[in-house]
Amino acid sequence: MREALVFGGSGQIGHPLLVCLHRRGWRVQAVSRRPQPPLPGVQWLRGDLDSAQGLPPRVDAIFSCGPLDRFARWYAGSAVECPRVVAFGSTSIEVKRDSADAGERDLAARLRAGEAGVLSTAAQRNAAATLLRPTLVYGAGGDRTLTRIAAIAGRWHRFALPRDAVGLRQPAHVGDLAKAAFAVLDAAATHGQAYALPGGETLAYREMVARVLAMLQPPAKLHLLPPTAFRALLSLAHAAGIARDFGDAALGRMRQDLVFDIEPARRDFGYAPRAFEPAAGMFGTG
Ligand SMILES: NC(=O)c1ccc[n+]([C@@H]2O[C@H](COP(=O)([O-])OP(=O)(O)OC[C@H]3O[C@@H](n4cnc5c(N)ncnc54)[C@H](OP(=O)(O)O)[C@@H]3O)[C@@H](O)[C@H]2O)c1
Repeated sequence: MREALVFGGSGQIGHPLLVCLHRRGWRVQAVSRRPQPPLPGVQWLRGDLDSAQGLPPRVDAIFSCGPLDRFARWYAGSAVECPRVVAFGSTSIEVKRDSADAGERDLAARLRAGEAGVLSTAAQRNAAATLLRPTLVYGAGGDRTLTRIAAIAGRWHRFALPRDAVGLRQPAHVGDLAKAAFAVLDAAATHGQAYALPGGETLAYREMVARVLAMLQPPAKLHLLPPTAFRALLSLAHAAGIARDFGDAALGRMRQDLVFDIEPARRDFGYAPRAFEPAAGMFGTG
């Protein structure tokens, strides 16, 4: 029986990955900072990346579904022997590289350093590492974009966007991302590579939001406002303590196409994500 060590297993992508590993006959040890409910085939270990206790001396694969920079640091100093590492980063590594927002540039820099760290540690240890970069993640009701929009729209039965929110998006379902992490394991072409993982459909930002609003019970109305009116509304929301982390950089990106090539992932490990079809339960709305 093959054995896996998983960091971030309690998260949106990590949880379906644990289920997938168990179903495919793996023995799984997963690290969490908090007590976790029992999951068949999974042994939970307590701790964070700096202090996890009782780690196994060797495993067949290590997965990182949490903060990449912290994982890279842990991996560099870890004594766990392992020939295969699969770690999630983000397409923010490219999208936020030249952002006007210093915090976003810092995130991109940490992702770059994390990816480089994982690859160089793997090379030193004769291990094979693969980096996976999801786009906008949805499906488990814990994401910071569509689930937040669904919560606001569910409360007010309406949601507003600037009329020019037509930048293209490729929302990726957590189940497809977990499957991708499993699929790369035995695909030799993925060794030492990083892959963008977009969803299976490319659509305009406002169409993506419209589909989420249409799924709510009762459906919420989408108001498309002139950009200046939307900006004024956002200022009011900020003053009321709502969406304060949604700043100018994020507003500008609603007009930008954030589109990534699915082909390398399709070619090297058969990545075939689903189209964007929101359903009840995917956004924490029951
Ligand atoms: N959500 C998105 O839109 C998105 C987009 C692109 C890429 N990604 C990347 O995909 C991966 C998984 O994302 P996700 O949305 O599934 O994550 P998530 O639901 O936010 O879960 C994060 C996981 O990381 C663990 N974690 C967080 N901070 C930690 C720390 N300081 N020390 C140790 N563990 C920590 C948490 O474990 P415990 O709380 O159990 O300890 C949790 O299981 C991450 O690398 C993320 O950057 C996400």
